[in-house]
Amino acid sequence: MSTAPVVLHRRFGHTARRDAWWIQPLLVFFALSTFVVYATWAAFQGEHYTYGPYLSPFYSPEIFGGSPHSWFGARPALWPGFLTYSPALLILPIPALFRVTCYYCRGAYYKSFWADPPACTVGEPRHSYWGENSFPLVLQNVHRYLLFLSVFVLLILAFDAYAGFWFHDPDGGAPRFGIGVGSLVLTANVVLLAGYLFGCHSMRHVAGGCVDQLSRSPLGSRTYACVSCLNRRHMVWAWSSLFMVGFADLYVRLCSMGVWTDFRIL
Ligand code: FES
Repeated sequence: MSTAPVVLHRRFGHTARRDAWWIQPLLVFFALSTFVVYATWAAFQGEHYTYGPYLSPFYSPEIFGGSPHSWFGARPALWPGFLTYSPALLILPIPALFRVTCYYCRGAYYKSFWADPPACTVGEPRHSYWGENSFPLVLQNVHRYLLFLSVFVLLILAFDAYAGFWFHDPDGGAPRFGIGVGSLVLTANVVLLAGYLFGCHSMRHVAGGCVDQLSRSPLGSRTYACVSCLNRRHMVWAWSSLFMVGFADLYVRLCSMGVWTDFRIL
């Protein structure tokens, strides 16, 4: 079936709106740009990503690396010497692509980065709209598959948060339970990421996408209701989890560099 483009008649920026419609896309532009610049910089550092039992979420799971959190030891010998190596480069593409393809995030950065459209009922720079039916935007459909990979990453982050409550005694011996500010930061990060991930639009299909063939009633309707409840605040979960995951990396990094002190509550 062929799809015809929608023809747009408004001039770019033309609108009858009288409110400050441009503030939101502008704020989104600055917030997302700041996060992308910081996350890229942090991912390439390859150091100061652990502190005591804490591991930065940008670097988890640490598949190959030099810290005690590494699963398979140091960086693989086959890694080309001319390429920068950082454990984050192996894992960060999963959550990054999950965010990039998120339905809410698409709407936000389409508006703020390439004015498509700048805001509702405001004229856009193009004269036709093809939607996401063609390359490259059709690749956004990979979101539902990234969801499953992201659940796996979330489970590992949950384990990291748990491990963040077990501190090694400087004199040796078994790790002891304690609570540091970093333990709470890593835990808050997991809670916010879980709220974001389990409210995903694709998760709604997973949670409520089938019908009992005998009774014709939807299966898993309670799960569907939970997911829908989270989904109604998906924008809030998206922003709060984005802020917290960046802050968690910053927290571990600054503690590791000796700039911040990780206060122990217990
Ligand atoms: Fe936003 Fe899936 S729609 S995470």
